[in-house]
Amino acid sequence: MWRRCDNNLIPIDKRLRWCINAAHDETAQMFFKYLLGRFVGTWILLVSMWSFNWTTPEAPSEQPETWPLRELPLKVAAARAGIDIGVAARASEFVNDATYATFITSQFSMVVAENAMKFQALHPHPVTYRFDRADAFVDRARAAGLKVRGHTLIWYGGAKWVREGEWDDQPGALEQAMLDHVTTVVGHFRGRVCCWDVVNEAISGYWGLRRNVWTKHIGQDFIAKAFRAAHEADPDAKLFYNDFRVEGLRPKADRLVNLISTLQAEGVPIHGVGLQAHMHFSLPSRDELIAQLDRLAALGVEIHLTEVDLGIPKPVTNGKRIKQAIRYRRLVDACLAVPACTAIVFWGTDDSRSWIPYFYKNFAEPLPFDADLRPKLPYYAILDGLLAGRRLP
Ligand code: G3I
Repeated sequence: MWRRCDNNLIPIDKRLRWCINAAHDETAQMFFKYLLGRFVGTWILLVSMWSFNWTTPEAPSEQPETWPLRELPLKVAAARAGIDIGVAARASEFVNDATYATFITSQFSMVVAENAMKFQALHPHPVTYRFDRADAFVDRARAAGLKVRGHTLIWYGGAKWVREGEWDDQPGALEQAMLDHVTTVVGHFRGRVCCWDVVNEAISGYWGLRRNVWTKHIGQDFIAKAFRAAHEADPDAKLFYNDFRVEGLRPKADRLVNLISTLQAEGVPIHGVGLQAHMHFSLPSRDELIAQLDRLAALGVEIHLTEVDLGIPKPVTNGKRIKQAIRYRRLVDACLAVPACTAIVFWGTDDSRSWIPYFYKNFAEPLPFDADLRPKLPYYAILDGLLAGRRLP
């Protein structure tokens, strides 16, 4: 079965049905092997069995055999659906590698620097800012008509000098440094960056806010202060709070909703929420996703799915690849079901440029394009979702 399914000489529409059947067989075989104890004790298999068991599709759209097998730039389909489709890019490659840049500009309408606009990259020493690489990236993107998301102003410890500073001895100095960073960076890119992740990952997985250098020396209102400074520096930029594992209805997602409504009640200029949607951290059902998007939309904020990816637990099989594509499709359907969801951004252009295999050795193939920038099954799932979810302006 797999031999026919993997045979590139047979048209993909014929192969898809065989692949799906083979995937079902494969899941049954894996379960049998598991019962025999062949893989007992290997947590990788447990995780993959747990997260990639076949489930009934949640909607008719989750049946791969119905997805289109033609190719169309994602940004064309996204424009029809009324949303932006974006990607996190390696800044220097985007500026220097024409093939890579052409791929990005032809598929996507929005781009974010994966690392080049972070605190450490732009502000490596207390009195030194480095804008050359980020400027080249932003200018190249804008020249190609792409919107630029700014990622990220304030995150955990920012830079080494922030984490290691003797702030106890200098009351008010860290707050001044934070405000200086936000004001300088946002002011520098004023009019060139559509939206900023002003604060990233501040909510604790267990309670309240994470304890970090900002909460310790400025207090919990470092968030409000950062947003106010950003708004002053560029009143037209949309300001986002960005976090992970907040896509479903877990307690952390409740804390996100509370944080946003508290900031709003205090009159803080916050315009959007970024749900990272690293799906190996969080795999809510389609309805749960929609429920969370609806809760945020009810607060009047815009929503971006900002760091979408899904690593497949090794060993990678075609069955898991199909399951992965269904998860991607579910995310697109959920976004398009809620008008406040206006952008989907993948965290990495392709499988060879993803943080996942680097940080999680047991996960692979997380993105819709392969290392040669060729579309994979999630691409077809996403494309079908975008075409089906057409939205009137
Ligand atoms: O590729 C180099 C390698 O050549 C070098 O030998 C090695 C030495 O440390 O570094 C490698 O680069 C690493 C890079 O990831 C590889 O992708 C960097 O050290 C490492 O710091 C970098 O991590 C980045 C991480 O944020 C920390 O800033 C990831 O690229 C980036 O994808 C990740 O992105 C974050 C978002 O900003 C916020 N949300 C979570 C997301 C994933 O962690």
